[in-house]
Amino acid sequence: MAEFKIALIPGDGIGPEIVSGAKVVLDAAAKKFGHSFNYTQVDMGGCAIDKYGVPLPEETIKTCMESDSVLLGAVGGPKWDSVPAEKRPETGLLGIRKALGLYANLRPSILKPQLAAASPLKSEKLVSGLDIMVVRELTGGIYFGKKQRAEDGSWASDEEKYSVEEIRRIGKIAFETAMLRKKRVVSVDKANVLESSRLWRFVMTELAKDYPEVTLSHMYVDNAAMQLAINPAQFDVIVTSNIFGDILSDLSSAIAGSIGMLPSSSLGENKRGMYEPIHGSAPDIAGLDIANPIATIISAAMMLRMSFGLIEEADAIEAAVDKVLDEGYRTADIMSEGMEKVGTKKMAELISERL
Ligand code: IPM
Ligand code: MG
Repeated sequence: MAEFKIALIPGDGIGPEIVSGAKVVLDAAAKKFGHSFNYTQVDMGGCAIDKYGVPLPEETIKTCMESDSVLLGAVGGPKWDSVPAEKRPETGLLGIRKALGLYANLRPSILKPQLAAASPLKSEKLVSGLDIMVVRELTGGIYFGKKQRAEDGSWASDEEKYSVEEIRRIGKIAFETAMLRKKRVVSVDKANVLESSRLWRFVMTELAKDYPEVTLSHMYVDNAAMQLAINPAQFDVIVTSNIFGDILSDLSSAIAGSIGMLPSSSLGENKRGMYEPIHGSAPDIAGLDIANPIATIISAAMMLRMSFGLIEEADAIEAAVDKVLDEGYRTADIMSEGMEKVGTKKMAELISERL
């Protein structure tokens, strides 16, 4: 029996629904395996702006720091689109990533055979066996570089800056991840134009010498986008900067059927991580009980595996998800002919019952 403290950040839009879905499944796993998960729920994003006037209250940072891991829904929505940058919900998300030192963001895209029909790439050859891990640098680059706006409003700029150390540490995560997989790393950059990318490429090439079993290749980001669309099965691990990773991970997730299926983990120097679906807060469907909770449920499974070392428990949750899909249950985003459509709550219940 093990005990863990989990900070829950439901956030905005569909966030609260999908996080409660994941909690139902976590509770079922705790019961089955005799563990105890203690949750503390905190605010971040738009809901925090409404309550406290800031997207990331001190209390939220404190609770996360004192927890073994964080499970996050999603933040943002049109309601807060016109507030100043420092008050946007997204600023809260970037702030908590930075505060917890979560520089490595792992975004797996796996096409489950049950969902082959949901992939926009219809050819079997293109998508069968699709299993890509995007390793995205999360606390540097243009997201955190110097931001400027001319006083007269006539120009603005954002700086893309990377240190050797920042590149090295994310590179290491990518190579070590590849060692447990097919041992191939594609480093994505724009080294034909950007100086920061030339440094990125140099550091990755140097680092590769420490991992002789891993094959490293380099790809420009524009080509990588095209290759993901025409031949995604060629990829194993993709390692890239904050902004390129943001863009390419949406693309690789769409290829895997639905962005509603894909989890992510954000990790730093210690075991504590933050786990969240890679999709956003989908304000248009918030509160309607139609959002797909599976991305958040698999994120919770990743948390058990990667931060808590509960491998068997994580496997059981993923097997329960597969079972429910095998039985033909689908949320609206992954619905196809002959399947049974269920809502957010029902999907989470079905998965917890299969545990
Ligand atoms: C993501 C999201 C965030 C990002 C937004 C909400 C700030 O798109 O996690 O991919 O760009 O990192
Ligand atoms: Mg994104």
